[in-house]
Amino acid sequence: MLCIQCHLEVNEGKRFCAECGAAQFLSCPNCKAASPIGKSFCADCGSSLGGSPTPIPKPAPVVAEKIPSIEAAEASSGERKVITVLFADIKGSMELIENLDPEDARAIVEPALQLMIDAVLHYDGYVVQTTGDGIFAMFGAPVVHEDHSHRALYAALRMQSELKEYSARICAQGHQPIQGRVGVHTGEAVVRTLRLGNGQIEYTPIGHSTSLGARLQTLAPVGSIAASEAIRQLCEGACEFIDLGLTKVKGVTDLVKVYEVTGLGKQRTRMQRSAGQGFSKFVGRVRELDSLRYAAEQAQEGNGQVVAIVAEAGTGKSRLIFEFMSGIQSRAKILETSAVSHGKNSYCQPLIELLQAYFGIEAQDNEQKRREKVTNAIQELDPLLKDIEPSVLGLLNLIDEDDPFFELDERTRDLQTWDGLKRLLVRESANQPLILVFEDLHWIDDQTQEFLNQLADAIGKANILLIVNYRPQFVHGWNNKSYFTQIRLDPLGDAKAKEMLAAMLGDAAQLSDLKRLIVEKSSGTPFFMEEMVKALFDDGTLARDGNIVLTKKLEDLDIPSSVQAILAARIDRLPSHAKEILQTLAVIGKEFSISLIVAVTSSSKEAIEKQLKELQLGEFIYEKPVSGEKGYIFKSALTQDVAYNTLLIERRKILHERIGVAIEAIYPVSIDDHVAALAYHYGRSNNVDAGIQYLTHSGRQKMLEARKNSKLGSDTPLIKSESAELTATSHATNATLDSVESIWRYPVKSMAGEKLQSVFVSDKGIIGDRVYAFVNEETNRAAVVRKWAESLLNYHPHFVSEPDSQSKIPALEIVMPSGETLTTTDANIEERISAVFERPLKLMSTAPLGLLIEVPAGTLGGNLSEVTEFPLAGGAPAGAFFDYGCMHLIASSTLNHFQKTYPEGRFDERRFRPNLVIHSDSQPFIENTWVGRTIMIGTELVLRVSIPCPRCISVTLAQDDLPRDPSILRAIVEQNMCDLGDFGKLPCAGVYAEVVKPGHIRCGDSLRFGD
Ligand SMILES: Nc1ncnc2c1ncn2[C@@H]1O[C@H](COP(=O)(O)OP(=O)(O)O)[C@@H](O)[C@H]1O
Ligand SMILES: [Mg+2]
Repeated sequence: MLCIQCHLEVNEGKRFCAECGAAQFLSCPNCKAASPIGKSFCADCGSSLGGSPTPIPKPAPVVAEKIPSIEAAEASSGERKVITVLFADIKGSMELIENLDPEDARAIVEPALQLMIDAVLHYDGYVVQTTGDGIFAMFGAPVVHEDHSHRALYAALRMQSELKEYSARICAQGHQPIQGRVGVHTGEAVVRTLRLGNGQIEYTPIGHSTSLGARLQTLAPVGSIAASEAIRQLCEGACEFIDLGLTKVKGVTDLVKVYEVTGLGKQRTRMQRSAGQGFSKFVGRVRELDSLRYAAEQAQEGNGQVVAIVAEAGTGKSRLIFEFMSGIQSRAKILETSAVSHGKNSYCQPLIELLQAYFGIEAQDNEQKRREKVTNAIQELDPLLKDIEPSVLGLLNLIDEDDPFFELDERTRDLQTWDGLKRLLVRESANQPLILVFEDLHWIDDQTQEFLNQLADAIGKANILLIVNYRPQFVHGWNNKSYFTQIRLDPLGDAKAKEMLAAMLGDAAQLSDLKRLIVEKSSGTPFFMEEMVKALFDDGTLARDGNIVLTKKLEDLDIPSSVQAILAARIDRLPSHAKEILQTLAVIGKEFSISLIVAVTSSSKEAIEKQLKELQLGEFIYEKPVSGEKGYIFKSALTQDVAYNTLLIERRKILHERIGVAIEAIYPVSIDDHVAALAYHYGRSNNVDAGIQYLTHSGRQKMLEARKNSKLGSDTPLIKSESAELTATSHATNATLDSVESIWRYPVKSMAGEKLQSVFVSDKGIIGDRVYAFVNEETNRAAVVRKWAESLLNYHPHFVSEPDSQSKIPALEIVMPSGETLTTTDANIEERISAVFERPLKLMSTAPLGLLIEVPAGTLGGNLSEVTEFPLAGGAPAGAFFDYGCMHLIASSTLNHFQKTYPEGRFDERRFRPNLVIHSDSQPFIENTWVGRTIMIGTELVLRVSIPCPRCISVTLAQDDLPRDPSILRAIVEQNMCDLGDFGKLPCAGVYAEVVKPGHIRCGDSLRFGD
C-alpha cells in the first residue's frame, strides 16, 4: 500500500505513514472504527464516512488519447519522461472536520478538492490520484508540454488564490478557514500504465522526483507553494521565488534547496527573460532583416504586408522581430501580442492583450476607467466608428450580459467583432504606419486565428505591416496572397554559431573544443547554445576567473532541462509509430542505412520508408547515403539524445543487441568495417561479453591501422619523442622500491612461457622471446593463442641452451600436454604439430613478410563463422613475432587489486603473458602513469614505456591449472579503461615498452624512473 500523502510504501494495516506521518485511515464518526481514506462507508457499521471520495476526474479526450493502451504499455512497460509533479492538500483537514457531521465535512472539503482539480485541468495537467484531502497531479505526461513546469506553477498559483477565496466564503458562513499546501518538483520519472485489480487502469509516474515532490508539499508553509531548485531554474522570471534555504529532506542524502513561489513574475516570455539576463550578441540574419525592412517600406506606401517568420522553437523568431523593431526609424505605431502555450482554450487572449495595449488599459484600472479609455479612444480616432464600441467592449468584458450586444447569437457577435476591429486598425493606420506583431501562432485559439485571417484579407491597401511567427506545424491559408512573405529561419551556420559563442565565452584556446561540441550538439539553434552555456556555468564546469575557464575535462554535454522539454514535446507530437521508429533510430546512432533499419525493426521496407518520410517531413532526420546505400542522418544530435533518453534502459539494451545481431547479419563479409559499431552496441546490451570482445578487437584494429601508417611511432601523443640515450646517473633520482619480481620469455608465439631468474635484454627485447612461431604455410597465418587457445597455451617450450644473441637461436624442447617432449631439431616436429592442429604448420624462426594473425572464430560475438586476420605488427622489431611492443610489463599492485575486487577469479600472471612482473606497493594501475617515461632496471637496461597494454579474451582462456574465466576481462573493463587517444577507450592492464639501452637484468633488480 502506498501512502496517500507521500506515496512511499506503508506497511499493510498501518494507520500512519512511517515516512511522513500522514494518517492512512479515517475514524468512523459512529463507531470509531478505522477505515482506509478513500472509502465511503464504514466497513464495521455501515455509517457514511463523511462523503464519498472525490472521484478521479476523467482525463480530457486529448489527454485520454495520449495514455498508452494497457497492451502497448505492457509491451514497452513505460517510458522515461521528465515531468513536473504537483502535490496539494488541505492543511489540517482532520482537525477541520473533526467535530463536523460527515456530510457537512464533505460539503466543505469536496469543493476545495474540486477547485484543486480544476486548476490542474485548466493547464492540461493530469490528476493521477485524489486522496481524502488532496491531489497528486503531473504535468508533461501523458500530454507532453514543453513548459510543463510553468504550467504546474500556474496551476498551483491558481489553486492557492481560489482556495483563499473559497476559504473566505466558508469563513463568512461561520466555518474554520481552509488553507492548502502545494509542493512542486520536476525531474525524470518512469511513467507507465498499471492494471489495477478492479479492471481499472492507472497511469502513474514512479521515481525519486515523485517522492521529492510529495516531500516538498509537507515542507510548504501553510497557504503557500514550495518548489525545488530544478523548478526555480526553469521558471525564474515567469514566477517570483523566495529562497527558504537548505532543508533536510527524508530520503535525500544532500540538503535540498526549497523555494516558496509567491506569484507571477514579470518575464513571462522567453524574450523578456533573455532581455532580463542580457541578450547574447546578435549574429547573422542580415537577409531576413532586409526582407522585413523591405516589407515595412511597402506597407508604408499603402501596400499592406503580411510577413511570417517560421522556425522551430529557439531558432530566433522573436529575436529577429526584436532586432527589426529596434532599428525602426519611422513614427510607426507598434502593437505586439503573443499566444501562450496553454492559450488554445482561452478565447481571444492574444487579441484582448493587443487591444488592452492599444487602449492603454492597465492592471489597476477599474471597469469604469477601462470603459472610458476605450470609448474616448474610439471617439478621438473617428466618431464614425461609434458602432464598433459594443463589440470592442464586449471582447474586453466591459459590458454587462444584459447589453443588447449579447442578444445576438455567438457567431454573429464574433463576426461583428472581427469586422469592428478590422475597421479600427485600418483607420488607425491612416494616421501613421501600423506594425502589428502576433507571435507564436502555433498556440493561437481558433477565434484569434479567424480574426487574423480576416485582417490579412483586409490589409492589402492599408498602411499595415502584420508580422507573425510560428513553428512549422502551423497551417494557414495566406500563401497565395501577393502581399504575403514567408521567412524561413534556419539554425545558425557554423561560422555564425561560433561568432555567437565567441561573444559569450571569449576566444581562449582552452575553450575551442567546448565551443565545437556546443555547436555540434545544438546544430546552431541559438536558444540551445545559450542554455548549454548557462548550464555549464550553473554546474561549475565553466567559471569566471577574470577570463572564462573550463574547470574540468568535458567529454559530453548534458542536455539542459529547458532544451530537453522542447525537444521531448516535439518528439511526443509524433504519431506513436513514428515516435517508436525515431526512438529505434536514436539507438542505432546518428546515421543509419535503410537496410539496417529494416533488419532491426523487422518491418517491410515500404512501411519503414513511409515512416521515415514522416520523420523527414517533421525535420527530425534527413537523407544521406550511408555505406553506399540509402540512409538517413539525425538533423540534430540533441534530438537523438532526447529520443534515446525516453527509452527505458531495459528496452535500450534489447534494441542495442538487436542492432548488433542485425549488423552481423547484414555485413558478414565486411564485418571488420563494423567492429567499432558492434563494440558500441553489444557493449550497451545484455550481451556484454560480445561487447567486450568487439571492443578489444576494435582497439587492436585501430592500433594496427596506426602501426601500418607508422602512426604509433614518435608522433603518437602517448609516446614521448625524445630519443637521447640515458645514463644511469642522469636518472638516478626518483628512486622507488619497485623491483623485478619475475621474468618471462615466450620462445614460441602463443605457447606457454619460460620463467627465468636473469636474462639479457637486447634492443629487440628479451633474448629468445617469441623467436618461433607455427605458421600455416597455405594461408600465411601464425598460430596464435586466441585461435587454438587452450591447446597452444598448454605447450611448454624451453631452450636446450641459453641463447646468447638474437641471431643464433638454439634448439627448443616443447613439452606437449601429454607429457611427451618434441624437439625443434626433430625431423618430424612439423608433421606432429600439424596433425594435432589439423592444418599444415611450419615452424618459423623469423616472421615472413605479410604474416597474418588469425582471430579465432567466435571471438567476435559468436555469430561469425569466418576467421578474420590482420597483419602482424609492422612496427615490431623485424623478424620477431611481436604484436605491439617488445617488452611487456605489469605491476603486482595491479594484479593484487584485481584479485581483491574479484576474489573468485585467478589473476595469475601467466594469464597476462608479461615479460616482467614488477613488484610494486603503489596504487593499482600504476603502470598507466609510467607511459612516456623511461625506466632503468638494474644497472644497465633502460626501457621507455610506450602505451598501456590493451586486453582481449586471451586473458580469459584456460591454461594448465587455470580455468577459462570471462569475468577476468570484465574486471579489467570495469576497472581500467584507458583512453588511448586515436584508438579509443580500451580495457588495459600493464604496459608495453621499447628498449632504449640493452642490458642484463635479474629478479630482484630495482627500478628507477626517469622523466
Ligand atoms: N541571431 C541571433 N544571434 C544571437 N542570439 C540569438 C539569435 N537568434 C536568437 N538568439 C537568442 O536565442 C534565444 C532564442 O531566440 P528566440 O527568438 O526566443 O527563439 P524563438 O522565438 O524562435 O523560439 C534568445 O535568447 C535569443 O536572444
Ligand atoms: Mg519566440
